[in-house]
Amino acid sequence: MSEPVSSEDGSAFNAEHTPFEAIGGETGVRALVDAFYDRMDTEVVARTIRAMHPPDLTASRDKLFWFLCGWLGGPQHFVERFGHPRLRMRHAPFAIDQPARDAWMVCMQGAMDACGVEGALRTFLNTRFDDLATFMINRPSSASAD
Ligand code: HEM
Repeated sequence: MSEPVSSEDGSAFNAEHTPFEAIGGETGVRALVDAFYDRMDTEVVARTIRAMHPPDLTASRDKLFWFLCGWLGGPQHFVERFGHPRLRMRHAPFAIDQPARDAWMVCMQGAMDACGVEGALRTFLNTRFDDLATFMINRPSSASAD
């Protein structure tokens, strides 16, 4: 089954700037990724999704950095190394339910706060990250005991 490409393409922003330029190029993307994984490493709400990752987050940081550069309209580092992102397929081994998705967004919202992502860029990225994170859900949320 093919995936909707639009969900993996966050690259439109405005006529003058790509989001990649607006966030500060590779330096800005690296800072966002570091702030994101620093939160995943420490936020109590992220404990479950942190446990899905390897103990050493160095490779995870690099992969997200490479992906976001291209997704935001910059260099296609991820595609050059690994081919088409197929993010949903790459996430299939991990049980991602609504709480896991929401924990991922808590870390990304905190990272955008820490990096001073504001205004039109923030509004744009809120929507794009929300949509892509929802697209990664591959399990129903655990049933409640009622
Ligand atoms: C919704 C909740 C999400 C969870 C729980 C999650 C979890 C994970 C885990 C456990 C890995 C493997 C880490 C590793 O190989 O080092 C991974 C890889 C990755 N994630 Fe996520 N992720 C989520 C959403 C997202 C989103 C929204 C994006 C993009 C904005 C993203 C981008 C990536 C990328 C690029 C990789 C590397 C893929 C690879 O090369 O295999 N993830 N994710």
